[in-house]
Amino acid sequence: MKSKAAILRQAPGKWQIEELELSEPGPTDVQIRIEAAGLCHSDDHFTTGDTPAEHYPLIGGHEGAGVVTAVGSDVRSVEVGDHVVTIFIPSCGKCRWCAAGMGNLCDEGARIMAPGGGKDAFNFHTSTGENVGQMALLGTFSQWTVVPEQSVIKISKDIPFTSACLLACGVPTGWGAATSATNVSAGDTVIVMGVGGIGINSVQGARHVGAAHVLAVDPEPLKRDTALTLGATEAFESIEAAAERAQQLTNGQGADSTLVSVGVLTSEMLAPAFGSIRKGGTLVLTSLGRYDEAGIPINLMELALFQKRIQGSLFGAQAPREVVPRLAALYQTGALKIDELVTRTYGLDQVNEAYEDMHGGKVVRAVIDMTH
Ligand SMILES: NC(=O)c1ccc[n+]([C@@H]2O[C@H](COP(=O)([O-])OP(=O)(O)OC[C@H]3O[C@@H](n4cnc5c(N)ncnc54)[C@H](O)[C@@H]3O)[C@@H](O)[C@H]2O)c1
Ligand SMILES: [Zn+2]
Ligand SMILES: [Zn+2]
Repeated sequence: MKSKAAILRQAPGKWQIEELELSEPGPTDVQIRIEAAGLCHSDDHFTTGDTPAEHYPLIGGHEGAGVVTAVGSDVRSVEVGDHVVTIFIPSCGKCRWCAAGMGNLCDEGARIMAPGGGKDAFNFHTSTGENVGQMALLGTFSQWTVVPEQSVIKISKDIPFTSACLLACGVPTGWGAATSATNVSAGDTVIVMGVGGIGINSVQGARHVGAAHVLAVDPEPLKRDTALTLGATEAFESIEAAAERAQQLTNGQGADSTLVSVGVLTSEMLAPAFGSIRKGGTLVLTSLGRYDEAGIPINLMELALFQKRIQGSLFGAQAPREVVPRLAALYQTGALKIDELVTRTYGLDQVNEAYEDMHGGKVVRAVIDMTH
């Protein structure tokens, strides 16, 4: 079948819309009609070259929601007509990590950067027969896609697709940075540095589990204003200003946790973030930077003698199959806001414009609505 998709041919580069040929699903694959796709900053890292792709052309997009339109003969967990979200780390359910409840670290994750997802044949081809890769085995910037069963989670049919798609990455990744990568406790003082599509959900998560003070940091006014309506108690333009306020609020101690979710992480951003946490506090890093960025310019005495912790966080340090249904339930009760995160929807053809709006600070999350 044919599918229109946004592909990247080189980095640095822009998304280009092309009509591609899509193969039938294999025995363990699921074919999805994508209804909505969120524009996570991680896809943008491929256009800048911060994250190099193993294969070009590459279909972008990993934050997707849609309807199952065909399943392979061995697929058991979903059927035609189900609504699903895509997850960027497959969960096999069998490896050591999945068995230990850490599906975000599933061994199958090694496939997501491999050309063709590590399989012999690619699912997508151009009209001239070129192999086309899929971001994180998914490629949700496409009208249709074929993905492994391990990469989809069934969701309730009453969640609108333009909100459901954010359950695929932005919502759980941000939420879990606060609730799982570090255990924010009742009464805590928390700084969230970068309150875009990911960080805004760290704000929601931290507040939900009882943080007394949630200090949002972002240079963009729209992000600060949105954070203040979704749980931040105060908002600042710089980490230095937030760190100073955290000290005032804690009798000079500092934040219990600082969660970093800026768009492009550079090593020099880390020293003030590290300095903002108290002794025994935790610095959570969700952001990605350039793949070859190395070194953390922090004081090593401060690390050891103040017993500080630096914690990486992938998918909010949670198992996707466990957390996505729980967050969907919270959304349905109104305790977790998702509709409010979607500042604007765009057609697939507008994907570059939507990313420009993300860079320009005009959207908390831009979402492609395939019905446009
Ligand atoms: N670890 C994971 O599992 C995971 C998953 C998804 C995304 N990510 C990464 O998380 C990061 C955030 O993604 P996003 O989609 O929310 O991006 P985004 O562009 O929507 O948000 C980033 C925000 O950071 C703000 N910002 C930039 N510089 C800042 C600074 N110095 N101080 C404070 N705020 C600053 C921007 O104004 C923006 O609001 C990206 O690097 C992305 O690749 C990681
Ligand atoms: Zn993402
Ligand atoms: Zn696994």
